[in-house]
Amino acid sequence: MSNQVTVDAPGADLGPVICVVGARPNFMKMAPILRAMAAHVPPIPVLLVHTGQHYDKDMSDRLFEDLRLPQPDINLEVGSGTHAVQTAEVMRRFEPVMDMHKPSCVAVVGDVNSTLACALVAAKKNVPVVHIEAGLRSYDRTMPEEVNRILTDQISARLYTTERTAEGNLAREGIPSERVCFAGNVMIDSVVFGRANARSATETLRACHIDPLVLNHPGGYGVVTLHRPSNVDNPGTLRALLGVLGEVAASLPLVLALHPRTRSNIDRFELAGLIDPACMVLLPPQGYLEMLGLMAGATVVLTDSGGLQEETTALGVPCLTLRENTERPITIEQGTNLLVGRDRAAILDSVQEILAGRGKRGRLPEFWDGHAAERIAADLYRWLMHWQAEIALNSLIT
Ligand code: UD1
Repeated sequence: MSNQVTVDAPGADLGPVICVVGARPNFMKMAPILRAMAAHVPPIPVLLVHTGQHYDKDMSDRLFEDLRLPQPDINLEVGSGTHAVQTAEVMRRFEPVMDMHKPSCVAVVGDVNSTLACALVAAKKNVPVVHIEAGLRSYDRTMPEEVNRILTDQISARLYTTERTAEGNLAREGIPSERVCFAGNVMIDSVVFGRANARSATETLRACHIDPLVLNHPGGYGVVTLHRPSNVDNPGTLRALLGVLGEVAASLPLVLALHPRTRSNIDRFELAGLIDPACMVLLPPQGYLEMLGLMAGATVVLTDSGGLQEETTALGVPCLTLRENTERPITIEQGTNLLVGRDRAAILDSVQEILAGRGKRGRLPEFWDGHAAERIAADLYRWLMHWQAEIALNSLIT
């Protein structure tokens, strides 16, 4: 009987790896992982589940096309809600998927509500959770993403990190180092993949009928994204930020690619008057290839996004992060990122420095080389084989 167990036919009875995506920043992380799993020898079986946390064409479908993500096998269509409702609804709808498909593990990326919700369902069913982009910490528990990161890491069996500081963060939280593997940054795999097909900024802006004065400004243009609740949910805070951006735009035209949450808050708080259309261009959420082109051609990026801090480091474009902290310290230590918070003087001075050609140049961090997903697929396969062998052995002993 014992010969049936494993070693003769490794992987023969490997259940699918359920790969979960839910919100915009998940798609660029999962796309290279799916490609690497398909290219692995032998291929690793996968089931792609989209929770539907993000559902707009601009926030989801377009990114699937740009990143050449296959259509999800299952869409849970949870949509928006409070954190509790959204998380609970993902859990409720994900559980039957787990029961039906008997996965070998559940792979989650990043720190959105869908990440934690699916990890929780899997952990309670004793199915191993694999967390990609583990160990990042802002040490700001008022951020919903920080709560999602800490809890997901605690219940993960295999954790892939993007930068070395993450290992220390995990060790401090009592996570054994044997569970952790430094694989590099899959987000940069997507930058490398998309770069050749990125749509040029000129093309994107022309297609939006942008005033040629903006296109031909001698200083170039800046790109802005804003969506963190701490920046956009309070009328006073959003007003102040738009005011500072207006001052920046007086010397450098700005292109704002607006998240639906920010767009609706600008309307709700009646702040549209702060946007001078002559030098501040509002765009809807952009596709991945448009955003890559816009960032690559920008003089500076001003953002509160986690992903853009990394992408600008990979592209060598100065980034001013409109937050008090970052969970991605390597982008500051080695990359092009600078934390400026909402400090008016810091923002204006930094933009002037960049316009004078003194922006941070930075260098590429270790393993941000376009091959992180391959390292993850290779390690995950070995790890799953080992895990299965142990389970089989234990069932023989007991
Ligand atoms: C989520 C993630 C955040 C990530 C961000 C990127 C959590 C806790 N937050 O924040 O980490 O950086 O995505 O986009 O998971 N909406 C639409 N269309 C959509 C999706 C959302 O209009 O396709 C609107 C809805 O009004 C919704 C609001 O945006 O209430 C916020 O969406 P939600 O998914 O709750 O969080 P995000 O702010 O997008």
